[in-house]
Amino acid sequence: MTITIDYSQKIPNNVNLNDDRTLQRALEGWQPNFLSWWDDMGPDGSQNFDVYLRTATSVDPQGWATFGHVKMPDYRWGIFLNPGEQDRKIHFGDHKGEAAWQDVPGEHRANLRRIIVTQGDTEPASVEQQRHLGLTCPSQYDLRNLFQVNVEEGRHLWAMVYLLHKYFGRDGREEGEALLERRSGQENNPRILQAFNEPTPDWLSFFMFTYFTDRDGKFQLCALAESSFDPLARTTKFMLTEEAHHMFVGESGVSRVINRTCQVTNELKTDDPKKLREAGVIDLPTLQRYLNFHFSVTIDLFGADESSNAATFYSTGLKGRFEEGKRMDDHILKGQTYPVLHVENGRLVEKQVPMLNALNEVLRDDYIKDSVAGIERWNKVIEKAGIPFRLKVTHKAFHRNIGSLSGAKVSPDGQVISEAEWAARSPDWLPTAGDRQFVAGLMGRVVEPGKFANWIAPPVMGINRQPVDFEYVRFA
Ligand SMILES: [Fe+2]
Ligand SMILES: [Fe+2]
Repeated sequence: MTITIDYSQKIPNNVNLNDDRTLQRALEGWQPNFLSWWDDMGPDGSQNFDVYLRTATSVDPQGWATFGHVKMPDYRWGIFLNPGEQDRKIHFGDHKGEAAWQDVPGEHRANLRRIIVTQGDTEPASVEQQRHLGLTCPSQYDLRNLFQVNVEEGRHLWAMVYLLHKYFGRDGREEGEALLERRSGQENNPRILQAFNEPTPDWLSFFMFTYFTDRDGKFQLCALAESSFDPLARTTKFMLTEEAHHMFVGESGVSRVINRTCQVTNELKTDDPKKLREAGVIDLPTLQRYLNFHFSVTIDLFGADESSNAATFYSTGLKGRFEEGKRMDDHILKGQTYPVLHVENGRLVEKQVPMLNALNEVLRDDYIKDSVAGIERWNKVIEKAGIPFRLKVTHKAFHRNIGSLSGAKVSPDGQVISEAEWAARSPDWLPTAGDRQFVAGLMGRVVEPGKFANWIAPPVMGINRQPVDFEYVRFA
């Protein structure tokens, strides 16, 4: 089925916005505020560039990725939901077997609103975090990818604001405004989740962020795609198609950094970080420290390991598990248990807790499995270069700030250690001020088509089968 988007309208959409004047007016009222937020907080110094972007023109496989040069402020942010499933049934929790909700049941209103606002808040936050990166892009190709991620995060915000406006009345409209008022990293009005208040100061951080933190996005969206609230399920399903590209940018970005480092390692016949840094590439131990930081900060996003909210969200049918439909259990989970970790007598110990309360941990563990797969692909690049170094994820208790492990001092391999040992050894495990300064020093703007900064290898192919030296960005 093809649902095309009507581009003659102010707000491209496939939700028949024309038929709902009140909603249309509310969104048209929000639109200029969104655009002025984009002006203030969107990509720095890029307003006149023509960027080779994909824009969704329908949600089917042929139409959702239409490519062409667009000036970013003219990007057509729209509202697209995947087509509804006929007679969709709730398939987990206490309402299992009942018809999916086309409207918000009064008793779940507060929780659903909170879920949608929390998801919505991450979208503009990441645009804010990344807003200066365009000034130090390693190539046109990368600059284009950054802008693609940025405009799509903007569209994800639209997706959540549509739900707030359509289903939550005045409260929803107020939340829509507040989403444009909070600012990443701002002390008096920060973004809701901590990882979205951390700066993304350089391109290595950006690639790690899109690999790890956009993948958190994937898992949250997958859990919401199971929701009994059908409009939320349908909108998150479409967001997931866009999210895949964000993770690709991260995975291929880090892979290209590794590739370049390995080349120079072999040319100079040394793995001495000091010599590699002098040659202008990022040594593998530094990459591992960045990985440790982004991985640990991101797994905190799944929330406390034991959470009565998580149980409520599941049992009431608001948020499912990753791939709920593929699981072979009763999808109610009462009386089942799941292991979580805590520190006891200086050691990490597992304890079994009711599974419903451990659903954040379940989602975190699914996320960890998925993250590891890409790291193995990075290791293949190192292995192929004949270099005896392997990247790995840290133990999940390392550097945690949420849940029962928060504040525990745990090494990357899972040993509980003293404060003194942490102080002495953490510079080997997390990026130091010196590391960050070194990486920042490598960042410089490279914008000639087909040219790449010294610290990163070119991609294997271009975007949408265009050549690598294609003019992805036309500067005004
Ligand atoms: Fe997003
Ligand atoms: Fe994303």
